[in-house]
Parts: sequence; C-alpha cells; structure tokens
Amino acid sequence: MIVLKSRHEITLMKEAGKVVAGCHEALRDFVRPGIRTLDIDEFVESFITKYNMEPAQKGYRGYPFASCTSINDVVCHGFPSDYVLQDGDIITVDMVALHKGLHADSAWSYAVGDISPEAQRLLDVTKTALYKGIEVAVEGNQISDIGHAIQTYVEAQGFSVVRDYIGHGIGRQMHESPEVLHFGPPHRGARIRKNMAFTIEPMVNVGSYECKLDDDGWTARTQDGSLSAQYEHTLVITDNGPEIITEQA
Ligand code: MF3
Ligand code: CO
Repeated sequence: MIVLKSRHEITLMKEAGKVVAGCHEALRDFVRPGIRTLDIDEFVESFITKYNMEPAQKGYRGYPFASCTSINDVVCHGFPSDYVLQDGDIITVDMVALHKGLHADSAWSYAVGDISPEAQRLLDVTKTALYKGIEVAVEGNQISDIGHAIQTYVEAQGFSVVRDYIGHGIGRQMHESPEVLHFGPPHRGARIRKNMAFTIEPMVNVGSYECKLDDDGWTARTQDGSLSAQYEHTLVITDNGPEIITEQA
C-alpha cells in the first residue's frame, strides 16, 4: 500500500530534506584527500544531530553507522573506516535524517582531488540519470516509467544500471511502497499521484551491473571491480510535478 502524505507530514519531510541537503553541501568542501571515511561519518552524525534530528541509518536493521561511505568499486552500503581518502578516489555518501517521525534520504557521489576522465564521466552520467528519472516522475505516469528513462539513458552512454538495489517510498518508514526500479520496461506499476513521496537513487557501473556482497553482509561491490557511482534524491509529487526535497543550493 502506498501511503499518501498529509500537508503536515510533507512540511516535516521538507525540514528533514533541508538538513540532508545542507550536509551534502558542506561535504563538498569536507571530502578531500587525507581524511578518513570515519571522519565523514562523524561529520554527518554531528550535522544531523545539531538540528535535533536523528541519523536514521544508524541502527537500521543493525547497520552500525550514521552514513554509508562507498569508495570506487563499492556500489552502496560501504562502512566508514580508518581508510584514508586518496587523490583520484570517488566516494558516495548516503544519509537519512529522521525528524519528528518523518524521513528524508539522499546519497551523493564526490570526486576526491583529481579524478580520471572516466571517473568524471561516470559521475556526470549517474547524476544526469537521476534527473532523467525525476523528469518523468509526474502525476499520471507510472512508476516504471522512471526506471525505463534511467536505463535507456545510462546504457546509451555505455554504462550499466545496478539491479540489486532500488529506490523506495519514504515517509514514516525509511522504506515504504512503492519499489522504484532504475531499469525495466515502461508503463508498469502504480500510477504516480500527488502527495506520494519516494526516492530515486540510481547506482551506475562502468562495467557490468552485477554486484557481490562482502563478508560484513553490507558492503556491495561491482563483481568485475569497475567503478560505481550513485546519486539519490527524495521527492514529493505535487500539482506542479516532482518537488526535490533534498535539493542542494
Ligand atoms: N539510505 C539508504 C537507501 O537509500 C538506506 C541504506 S541502508 C542503511 O535506501 F542500513 F544504511 F540504512
Ligand atoms: Co539513501
């Protein structure tokens, strides 16, 4: 069942989204060679708690950290650690703020220092893929139109779309209905309606779309060792189209 959001719930989600967006804006300068991914995690946790919100990933199904920090071939759910970021790395930072019972979720990929032209193209294509999905997230379209737009664009660029992890409805729960696939045929699934809230969060690999899981049970990597990137926004559907509640300034 897809839960439509009330005006009050949307107000709270927007407040949470603003904090998540503000944290990502601050990370643009904070993420650089020489810092540890645990430093990023501390930064995210203190940023969110400063606004009296909770970093909702911490403790979610036993996940131990406030953020996911996914480097190079890590697709998603990488653990913050003592690893020191190196010039040329790419890293995705994923976070969720919980505010008075409502969630907002956004992941963003960052270049660490100077990165290769191929890595830069991966970041550009993945970010554009997110916005291609957002463009068709309008009332009257169907949920699978989003994934179809994303897959069509990404594959035309020579990259692949991860199948194992998907976008999701969001609100009082971090993960609600509907499932938002980033691939597949159009014209399937629920019709998109006003006051729905969901994420779009394509993960794009340079090589094959296949993933494998580390022994920690969380860290997902590309099976072929190729680079992977991800951009994620939380959206609320309005009369005027999708409103991105985690949009950065
Ligand atoms: N923010 C992630 C998402 O996009 C959830 C990560 S799983 C967690 O759905 F355990 F880290 F929370
Ligand atoms: Co997320």
